[in-house]
Amino acid sequence: MGRMAEGLWRAVQRESADASPILDHVFQFVGPERTVLDIGAGVGRFAVPLARAGVRVEAVEPSDTMRHYLSRYVEDSEVPARVRVIADAWPTGAAGVAEVALAAFVVHFSDDPVAFVRAMERHATARVVVAVHVDPLFARWREAFGPLWPGGPGPHPSRLFKDLYPLLLQHDIVPDVAIFQQHMGPRWSTEDEAAAALIARFEITEAADEARLRERLRTHPDVWQHPAAGRAALLSWAPPA
Ligand SMILES: C[S@@+](CC[C@H](N)C(=O)[O-])C[C@H]1O[C@@H](n2cnc3c(N)ncnc32)[C@H](O)[C@@H]1O
Repeated sequence: MGRMAEGLWRAVQRESADASPILDHVFQFVGPERTVLDIGAGVGRFAVPLARAGVRVEAVEPSDTMRHYLSRYVEDSEVPARVRVIADAWPTGAAGVAEVALAAFVVHFSDDPVAFVRAMERHATARVVVAVHVDPLFARWREAFGPLWPGGPGPHPSRLFKDLYPLLLQHDIVPDVAIFQQHMGPRWSTEDEAAAALIARFEITEAADEARLRERLRTHPDVWQHPAAGRAALLSWAPPA
């Protein structure tokens, strides 16, 4: 989670989420109370722009590292009065009810996505908004670094739109769906920066493995120098009355 937090933190430093279709969509359903529950808020990619626009945000975030960056981003943006951080995992009774419940790229961490979104329905008065990946996040990483990456990319790599959408339909949740392109991935500026991060991520200790990694960084520069375009899905529905 620490490495994901650093990656997200680098991303919010370099590009704002203001142009994100996720943020646009959430704003469509923010009503007179101006409240959003941001579940798995991460470093605050959506919570902070929402708060800057005058929305009161409850940000649910279980990771200490993510909350460290989130608090810093909230402070730097001078919006602490509008962001309440809840140090817990979803579902949690510590959160209140908001007009919109948002979970952007979080549901794939859950062992029970249906219970996860049903709890979102109970905490939203106007809209439940869930974003998930359509394309596997680490496909080009596997190609470039697969043999050096024991264990692969982490939890539930296959919980994608193609898995979640039919599951929701089976449970009589029929969301509006929009597919959009986003740019995800590393934004390292130098080979040394990329090597240091990947040596830690792949837990490389042998000099020979480090040499193989550096060789692959040289032969696959696009993978670590530029974020890749990937499709994501925005699933959105009204909570049951
Ligand atoms: C990929 S990040 C997405 C962060 C943010 N929503 C964004 O789009 O930038 C996933 C976040 O979900 C959080 N998370 C994982 N399981 C969670 C759960 N059960 N409840 C709330 N947050 C969770 C992680 O700690 C992490 O911050």
